Amino acid sequence: MRKKIIAGNWKMNLNYAEALSLVDTIVDQMEDDGLAEVVLAPPFIYLRDIVSRVQGSTRLSIAAQNCSQFKNGAHTGEVSSSMLSSVGVECVIVGHSERRAEQNESNEILKLKIDRILEQFLIPVFCCGETAEERKNGSHSEIINRQLEQSLFHLNEAQLLSCVIAYEPVWAIGTGKNASIDQIQEMHSLIRKQINHHYKNNIGENISIIYGGSVSVSNAEEIFSAPDVDGALIGGASLKAADFTLILKMMEKMLSSRMV
Ligand code: 13P
Repeated sequence: MRKKIIAGNWKMNLNYAEALSLVDTIVDQMEDDGLAEVVLAPPFIYLRDIVSRVQGSTRLSIAAQNCSQFKNGAHTGEVSSSMLSSVGVECVIVGHSERRAEQNESNEILKLKIDRILEQFLIPVFCCGETAEERKNGSHSEIINRQLEQSLFHLNEAQLLSCVIAYEPVWAIGTGKNASIDQIQEMHSLIRKQINHHYKNNIGENISIIYGGSVSVSNAEEIFSAPDVDGALIGGASLKAADFTLILKMMEKMLSSRMV
């Protein structure tokens, strides 16, 4: 079975005390033997302390929200994948639409970032998604294909298998307007098919594809019912411990019902 993942992207929110309190509450409310993996992506400056806070939790890992495309050197303000690895970070979100838009991150730059992340044996959570305009003019599938081809499909089979893909339609992020269940299923299935088209052995069936874009306690259960959805990348609702852990419980309930 593919890994099921509930991930929280805290973006540029919370001060230090709030960040520690959020992680402590989430850890307290999580059951030890849950079936889904949990990933939290706090801002860089809190990573080291939060990593030490969750040590001992077997199914909670900490992600960075970005890393540099360079290995090291004169890149003021940047953080390298080896630095992240050295403080115990295990995953890195890469290609978030906010960074694509605000920092002009191209598919080519993201390809380099993926390479840096994999060199350190970290797990990339690769975000792809179309804008409202691209959805309106019907080019959404083409856009996703291009994002996958130009940033991921240079990887060998084993490398691709260590990635997680997040489908995040830009128009659904932070808007309270999630993509419909049919749109989500269609795009997740398309991503899997594209992977299977480029690689042998149907490896697309083994890669976790999670959905992001206005996931909340009121829509998570329905979203998780789609066969190609392996979890969620949550923004706003991940800042409230009660909402985040409730969404996690919804995924776990669904997983245990599938096992009986
Ligand atoms: P929201 O859940 O706030 O829409 O954000 C989604 C997101 O961008 C996660 O990376």
